[in-house]
Amino acid sequence: MLTEIAEVVTVKKYGSNTNLIKVHAPGIASKAEPGQFCNIKVSETNFPLLRRPFSICEVKGEHLFFMFDIQGEGTSILGCKKKGDKLNILGPLGNGFNTGIEFDTAVIVAGGIGAAPFPFLLSRLKKKKVICLVGGRSEAQIITYGMKNIYISTDDGSNGFKGTVVQLAERIKDKFTGGKVQFFACGPNAMLKALKQFCMENNFSCQVSTESAMACGFGICQGCPMPAANEEKYYLVCKDGPVFNAKDIIL
Ligand SMILES: Cc1cc2nc3c(=O)[nH]c(=O)nc-3n(C[C@H](O)[C@H](O)[C@H](O)COP(=O)(O)OP(=O)(O)OC[C@H]3O[C@@H](n4cnc5c(N)ncnc54)[C@H](O)[C@@H]3O)c2cc1C
Ligand code: FES
Repeated sequence: MLTEIAEVVTVKKYGSNTNLIKVHAPGIASKAEPGQFCNIKVSETNFPLLRRPFSICEVKGEHLFFMFDIQGEGTSILGCKKKGDKLNILGPLGNGFNTGIEFDTAVIVAGGIGAAPFPFLLSRLKKKKVICLVGGRSEAQIITYGMKNIYISTDDGSNGFKGTVVQLAERIKDKFTGGKVQFFACGPNAMLKALKQFCMENNFSCQVSTESAMACGFGICQGCPMPAANEEKYYLVCKDGPVFNAKDIIL
């Protein structure tokens, strides 16, 4: 884990509410693994006081990319950054996706801004068969940046299959059954919960990248508990996660 003063290279709009920021952070870039995140101080003042966590979206050479939706104060400030601005970044934090296991097909499931960690993961899965299921409430929330072999779902039917991304997985499951299948998912909790159920019923292994309110980002403040499924204990999302095997946690 490093603290690095990173220089902003570009901030680009992607869709109506989504931004992609590229920063020069050679130290963190050289250590980062897909699924890890950084805790970013978005302002040089004490306002807002807390850092904000963001998945590492891509790493290219000495550069890190973060994809984020404008939610409130912190992300609004981040969205206004300009080339040459400096950001204090803590990272890489947490564990990443486990790609060292055996599988033939990777099924990526992304809900809305949950698409953020997957360009980096996909850069490490070039030799695997990959299917990407991308869902959102409507067309405006569909993010396919860096994805391939894409199937889309929207709740309102404005793009692709009408329904949830988990219903889409059920609908097209013949496309990925046969061989060993590994799901990698990130998105709203309700989506992860439904996907866990689907994967358990179909005997698919599933890793989920989870979210929680966070303060420190590295296991000190105990502010990001995640209940364990089979034991009377809590994991910490920032330290034990954000990626968990879905069967190990209560979503
Ligand atoms: C490990 C991890 C990785 C993340 N990766 C990304 C990412 O790659 N891209 C991205 O856009 N966001 C990501 N998030 C969420 C991101 O941290 C929040 O959107 C951000 O902190 C909001 O800050 P803010 O100051 O703009 O909003 P605030 O002013 O803090 O909150 C504004 C509104 O946003 C809601 N909000 C705050 N935090 C979250 C959250 N975690 N999830 C959903 N709603 C929230 C609040 O409830 C409130 O309604 C991640 C969160 C975690 C824990
Ligand atoms: S954010 Fe402090 S322990 Fe997780």
